[in-house]
Amino acid sequence: MGKYLAKRLNTDISHLSFEKLKSDEIMKKGELIFVTATDGNHGRGVAWAARQLGQKSVVFMPKGSSVSRLNNIRNEGAEATITDLNYDDTVKLAAKYAEDHNGVLMQDSAWDGYEEIPRWIMQGYATIIDEIIEQLNEDKSHMPTHVFLQAGVGSFPGSILGYLVDVFGDDKPKVTILEPNEAACIFESVKAGDGQPRSVTGFMPTIMAGLACGIPNTISWEIIRDHADMCISCPDFVAARGMRMLANPLNDDVKVISGESGAVGMGIVSLLLEDEKLKDIKEKLSLNEESNILLISTEGDTDPESYREILWDGKYPSI
Ligand SMILES: Cc1ncc(COP(=O)(O)O)c(C=O)c1O
Repeated sequence: MGKYLAKRLNTDISHLSFEKLKSDEIMKKGELIFVTATDGNHGRGVAWAARQLGQKSVVFMPKGSSVSRLNNIRNEGAEATITDLNYDDTVKLAAKYAEDHNGVLMQDSAWDGYEEIPRWIMQGYATIIDEIIEQLNEDKSHMPTHVFLQAGVGSFPGSILGYLVDVFGDDKPKVTILEPNEAACIFESVKAGDGQPRSVTGFMPTIMAGLACGIPNTISWEIIRDHADMCISCPDFVAARGMRMLANPLNDDVKVISGESGAVGMGIVSLLLEDEKLKDIKEKLSLNEESNILLISTEGDTDPESYREILWDGKYPSI
């Protein structure tokens, strides 16, 4: 959003302080409507940032979105609604709404002809890995040998992977992309083997709501296609197991309250290390006692009711 506002003023964001971004000078140019579709997290970020900058936001959510996630977005001042559509059709609706209302589409996915804003969003995600590597540089013995990244449309994993390729080249850690079984569009694209992205359609029912996306981001797809080491499609119980493990760590490990989409990495790593049936994957990835595994939990208990059902009532047990 800052970059968009800077462009509107014919300047670079590096010349604009946060105060300036909120200033009358920017407001005088007229109020903007930032529009997006979301499973919950991205839209909450858009709503938060719009409020900080004194601008308006309109957020659309797919059918089945949790009311607590909707309320989180409304509490940031956005006009937010749950549609009757799946995620990808909700994105199309948001794009149409932005077009009809002279709004700015702030979507975290790219397609032909819509690339500038999603590229900025991906550059923003790269801050996560930049800060991680900066911290690990203080003690290089903890540099990751393996990274597991959860994917919806692929913007988040594509940006982290792109950064790793850029910084480490051939020495980059092995990177595995994780998706829910019901929304494994990147897995299906890789499996097709012709270099072209594939879509998954329908309602994609999964507890990993943040990852329930059926159309890969065109920019990310090329990064993932060319540089990922493996893609794994996971059933819901994998994420539930990850949530329980992160909340109940061994010894002095730090407890992490992670939501469904954030915990699938923990779940799959634990199973790869323990489950004989997955031995082949473990070997292909050369996972062993020497490995340093990096996981990034991308959400907290953004749906507290579901979090309790999984943690307290043991919903989605391991099979
Ligand atoms: C919690 C969480 N983790 C990961 C992702 C994956 O991001 P992407 O859709 O960019 O692949 C999302 C997407 O919204 C998310 O909400």
